Amino acid sequence: MRIDFGEPKPLDSLDGLRLHDPATYVAGCRHDVWLSLRRHRPVGRDHMPDGTPYWSFATYADCDKIVKDTATYSSEDGTILASVGVGDSAGGQTITLMDPPDHSAIRRPLMRTMRQSVVRRRADAVRAKVLRLIDPLLAGGEHDIARLMRLLPMVAAGDLLGIPEQHWETVAFNTTASIAPEDPEYAVGRDVGDTLRRVHHRLFAVFAETIETRRRDPGEDVVTALLGLEIGGRPIDDRRVMLNCYSVALGANSTTPHVACHTLLALAERPEIWRAVMADPALIPALVEEGARWTSPTHHLIRRVTADTELGGVRMAAGDWVCAWVASANRDEQVFDDPYAFDLRRAPNPHLGFGAGAHYCIGAPASRYALSVIFEELARRRVRFEVAGEVRHLYSNWINGITSLPMRFTPDA
Ligand code: HEM
Repeated sequence: MRIDFGEPKPLDSLDGLRLHDPATYVAGCRHDVWLSLRRHRPVGRDHMPDGTPYWSFATYADCDKIVKDTATYSSEDGTILASVGVGDSAGGQTITLMDPPDHSAIRRPLMRTMRQSVVRRRADAVRAKVLRLIDPLLAGGEHDIARLMRLLPMVAAGDLLGIPEQHWETVAFNTTASIAPEDPEYAVGRDVGDTLRRVHHRLFAVFAETIETRRRDPGEDVVTALLGLEIGGRPIDDRRVMLNCYSVALGANSTTPHVACHTLLALAERPEIWRAVMADPALIPALVEEGARWTSPTHHLIRRVTADTELGGVRMAAGDWVCAWVASANRDEQVFDDPYAFDLRRAPNPHLGFGAGAHYCIGAPASRYALSVIFEELARRRVRFEVAGEVRHLYSNWINGITSLPMRFTPDA
């Protein structure tokens, strides 16, 4: 079933909405839900299954404010719905789960390893690796793009992270499994708990080995930067280095493959746009940006209120949980004209796909570049493509993922 094509239809009623339930996002059009929220209940009180309440914000203006105002909306207790009511055991320890000013102590050195100038310097090596990854597509035939793109984040940023290439498959598969342990594609254990134990064990074994490798053989990468990091005048311990490896690997692998898949899918369904891109490859940066808005791989970002405050007409108390539905914000008709059109002329395109403010994605330059290379190489060879089977969506309330996307590729005769 396709769940993001065409104009969404507002729901008849918002009663019984289960925004926390992953089934909501695989069984129906998620944009029906968010459109209805923006129209009829832009701010509301929702509940987790254990009864813990949280505020849902659906408009661009409110989501933008929540994500940018780190003094009022803290990341320290968790940034995904699964943390609501229970917190996150890595809270206050990792780049994603810290607030300024301490957050900058870890963000600044990591940024230096992943910024635009570094990506530019390594561009040829990454292009060669992306070419190897998409070689089967360039040759033509039928392929499951979701499986193939799983490795894209590591191809884009594995060297920048400092993770040896022999571990890329393990990291790519297990990070996704860790956020969607109930998805049949990723359920490797007897039950959810067993799957999580197994995938975390595999990931932390790789990170432990990588730490030893980078200690012996330092590079200009994230792991080496973490090993040299001092916070409050003291070096951080290996556990904290590993938690940050996990955080960065998660940021990369939970998002990049799905932008590639959703963008290819959008193009397959709009061949006139792909023809325009082939005719004018200068459109590719706009394609990648619109692909990120279109996909909005993170449905939501969670924050916790630090002091009594007011937003969107409601009063909130310190300690309240807040959910910014950024995927809804990215379709807000107050900001984006014709938001359900995949439009390469959208300028400006101030989407929140990469977040905003102090936590803006540090992997954005690397992922933008790798995504561009895919479209440049396909366009250069005038490869056409179409959907060749059932599209399956990731069972997750957080990530707008695709687990299976069969497509047929036809190189230019
Ligand atoms: C198209 C691909 C990507 C998308 C759409 C994306 C999206 C995001 C978003 C929405 C955030 C903000 C999280 C928040 O505010 O709580 C974020 C932060 C982050 N992303 Fe990405 N990401 C992508 C690729 C990557 C890659 C390739 C990496 C690493 C190699 C990465 C690493 C991170 C990290 C470490 C953060 C946290 C930054 C901070 O807290 O200061 N991301 N990303």
